Amino acid sequence: MEAFTLRGGVMHAEDVALPAIAEAVGTPVYVYSRAKLTAKARAFRDGLARLGSAHGPPHLAFAIKANPNLAVLRVLGREGYGADVVSGGELTRALAAGIAPEEIVFSGVGKTHEELIQGLEAGIGQFNIESEEEGRELAALARDAGLRPHCALRVNPDVDARTHAKISTGRRENKFGVPLDRAGDIFAALAREGGLEMCGVAVHIGSQLADLQPLEEAFARLGALIWELRAAGHTITHADLGGGLGVSYRHDETLPTAAQYGAMVARVTRGWDVRLSFEPGRFIAAEAGVLLTRTIRTKRSGNGPPFVVVDAAMNDLARPALYGAHHEFEAVAPTGARMTAHIVGPICETGDTFAIDRECDALTAGDLAVFRTAGAYGATMASSYNSRGFVPEVLVDGDRFAVVADRIAPAAIMAAERVPEWLA
Ligand code: LLP
Repeated sequence: MEAFTLRGGVMHAEDVALPAIAEAVGTPVYVYSRAKLTAKARAFRDGLARLGSAHGPPHLAFAIKANPNLAVLRVLGREGYGADVVSGGELTRALAAGIAPEEIVFSGVGKTHEELIQGLEAGIGQFNIESEEEGRELAALARDAGLRPHCALRVNPDVDARTHAKISTGRRENKFGVPLDRAGDIFAALAREGGLEMCGVAVHIGSQLADLQPLEEAFARLGALIWELRAAGHTITHADLGGGLGVSYRHDETLPTAAQYGAMVARVTRGWDVRLSFEPGRFIAAEAGVLLTRTIRTKRSGNGPPFVVVDAAMNDLARPALYGAHHEFEAVAPTGARMTAHIVGPICETGDTFAIDRECDALTAGDLAVFRTAGAYGATMASSYNSRGFVPEVLVDGDRFAVVADRIAPAAIMAAERVPEWLA
């Protein structure tokens, strides 16, 4: 299903006209479609439908870093999704959204002492351990508390995910997981510690993967490790295959479907005899959101194309500035006229550029437009740079909508700052 479509010449989110949201909430604002979130959650689940084993159906844990909004988590919780969390803050959110502790997986390369305790006390379903050091620390805490958490060892398979370097995590030189050739020894050492139920292995090689082949290679290496661990006498009942499935950011791009991904997983995991877990983030949320913005004005400098200066900036949507990412840019009420322009925000650095030489709908001051595919790694990566405050979020459901995150005004951020007495 398509969530953001033109009706009567005006872009709608489901049955709500975007100008109505701009009018009520102001711009810039993130707008999410509940129906699209649900559709993607179901598509992913359906793609994996044949992957159950004696240990249970696939476990689906939404990587909440992609979109941690409480209302979004509520929608996905109702679809049966647990959560993959990477910080104490994300764990708190997942629980606040009503996700059962046993449905929560705690990943992350730098869990602090306090975060390990928080996870233990919450009774989460699984820790993904990223180093021998982390495992020993967790084991000591668990023994003291008389607990025995389920743990998987995250391995670094040394596979090139062929995605952007900044979101690639499975090469030997990346900080994530333990090296595959040391995984057997580290697993055995942690199993001997006592305190940990070492029952699984985990892998995640990167994000926005456009190609299934590197994933298949990583999973095959994980499978070989499972047999090696079993041969050494360990009982392996869980394998966490991470996230990473990409989405199309361009209208003319096609990426693997959930069904193709599921077929690949079925092929490579045949006979593993484990419960599989997945941590999709982007695949579920990206297409369910747009960033709605208003053109402040257009201007020219030099002989090149005009600049369209919009009221959203790199602090609201960081992906273009950080990764050179492409987001389709469309007028909310296109006239049919087209232009070639540079799309920029108001922030005082050249990095605040969404697109260069983009052929797009013609826009003039006051016109609304959207950046598409902004439901994942959008609002959650916002900052208040240039004292712009934090962008609000809206969830649409059929013909109704609700503000699910308030705009945080610059004054509210300033209210948390203090001038010491000796500077007054
Ligand atoms: N599991 C782990 C352990 C992860 O580190 C990640 C993402 C995921 C799951 C979810 O991956 P996904 O299914 O969303 O690809 N800010 C970047 C993306 C960073 C991804 C970090 N880890 C961006 O805007 O492209």
